[in-house]
Amino acid sequence: MLREWAHYLTLPAPWTHRRLGYVRESVSLTSRSRRCRKAWRPHLEAARTVIAQSFADLPQRRTAVVLGSGLLDDVPLAALASAFEAVLLVDAVHPWATRRAVRAYANVRLATADLSGSAGWLLGGADDLADALPAIVEGQSVDLVISANLLSQLPILPIAWYEERDRTVPPDLGRRIVASHLAGLARLRTRVCLVTDVEQVEMDREGGIVDRIDLLHGARLPPPDRTWDWELAPFGEAERHTRLVHRVWAYRDWHPA
Ligand SMILES: C[S@@+](CC[C@H](N)C(=O)[O-])C[C@H]1O[C@@H](n2cnc3c(N)ncnc32)[C@H](O)[C@@H]1O
Repeated sequence: MLREWAHYLTLPAPWTHRRLGYVRESVSLTSRSRRCRKAWRPHLEAARTVIAQSFADLPQRRTAVVLGSGLLDDVPLAALASAFEAVLLVDAVHPWATRRAVRAYANVRLATADLSGSAGWLLGGADDLADALPAIVEGQSVDLVISANLLSQLPILPIAWYEERDRTVPPDLGRRIVASHLAGLARLRTRVCLVTDVEQVEMDREGGIVDRIDLLHGARLPPPDRTWDWELAPFGEAERHTRLVHRVWAYRDWHPA
């Protein structure tokens, strides 16, 4: 707990991201990923494999951009750094583990951005959601964009912002944020690799389904190249007698999908 608190206080992040809860979430992701290391391993390996396959046949490899780089658990950073001239990691918060990992690579840079497009709107000053992808993603030299287990996360804190204040969540907020990220990816002229969880299933010890949640808020995706289950919370992590399993869909090349 003390360790988490120190992590929270010292993590560099813009004030707006701290205020919106991204630092808190990043610290708790760090702890959860340590606790669930064994349960998450198959998912992380599958995601890294799909990402590595997404650029195996790319003829030009100037800049690769990773959206939602986070802890880099699902990102084959060494392979990206050696295959591309430059790698740009984009997240609302870059944890210390990532900051340390990138020091080994002269061609890897960090960029901090709100990829939901909602920060200006929630904190006042903007009338609506902003374009979700930073301009840098559409740069001339970008040959690969990876959306790495980010999509389902984008609506979480904007929705929580309303709920924590007992305010009505604007209808369709979650679906609009998801749709805006997908529209941003569809607009890109580069190779796009998308890995995202799409559904949460809560199961009891007998394998019975207790609950299902659509993590994409009604947005629909085409059939994926690969799909697998991610045991997000084994028994005892979230609840003693139920576990949470996320269905993951992955696209090596999002455009033809
Ligand atoms: C499930 S984690 C995946 C992280 C990462 N790919 C990894 O291997 O650790 C989701 C990531 O999305 C980031 N994220 C969530 N909402 C975001 C937003 N609005 N803008 C930018 N990043 C966001 C979180 O900070 C977190 O790092």
